[in-house]
Amino acid sequence: MMEEARAYEELRVGFTAAVSHELRTPLARLLALLESAALPGGDRDALLAKAREQVEEMSELVDDVLFLSELESGREVVALGSTPALPVLEEVHDRLADSAERADVDIVVDAPPAVELPLRRRMLYVVAENLAENAIRYAGPGATLTLGARTGVLEANDDGRGIEEDELPRLFERFFRSDRARASRGTGLGLAIVKHVVASAGGEVHASGGPGRGLQIRCTFPAP
Ligand SMILES: Nc1ncnc2c1ncn2[C@@H]1O[C@H](COP(=O)(O)OP(=O)(O)O)[C@@H](O)[C@H]1O
Ligand SMILES: [Mg+2]
Repeated sequence: MMEEARAYEELRVGFTAAVSHELRTPLARLLALLESAALPGGDRDALLAKAREQVEEMSELVDDVLFLSELESGREVVALGSTPALPVLEEVHDRLADSAERADVDIVVDAPPAVELPLRRRMLYVVAENLAENAIRYAGPGATLTLGARTGVLEANDDGRGIEEDELPRLFERFFRSDRARASRGTGLGLAIVKHVVASAGGEVHASGGPGRGLQIRCTFPAP
């Protein structure tokens, strides 16, 4: 028990350091942008628009960190009852339709109407939304994402760029982002949240795929 408490404390300290580190980059950019905007002759509107993006990035990070901490403290109950999957997957599909179209990624929902998954609705939404947003961001134009559910299984399978095989085991780590993803916006916490939610419901996550073979994420839940 002592050992466990110590290991947990180390994890927490590391997490705090990592969050602070992740906030430094957008803060430094924000400062530089505001300084440039204060100079005469610059394109103030463009600089302020970029400054706003940095603030949005920081807000996303804070939201994700808070959500994770609520999950950890047990204040957010994950597995209360079960939720019909199809309407939630369709809601994710509809809400992300515009950004999917902009990214030229097709999202297909595939779930029999009767299938339920052992998560609260909000949690199922969070998981599916994170998986779909990732495909939109990283799969690349022309890719198709299938968001599917069957008894005890939630799957997000895309046929996009994928990631290096040796990176697959690190996908669910907090703040992990592949080198290619670093240029785009993101917190690196999405899949950590997915894993946490699924594990809190007694389930497991699994990733497969490879470069040019897309990414497949499977969440499996124990039978009720
Ligand atoms: N569908 C996907 N295709 C290729 N790479 C992906 C996909 N989903 C996630 N990744 C990789 O996994 C990393 C971690 O994802 P995530 O935890 O959601 O963080 P974020 O999206 O904020 O970067 C991404 O930065 C990206 O490198
Ligand atoms: Mg993500």
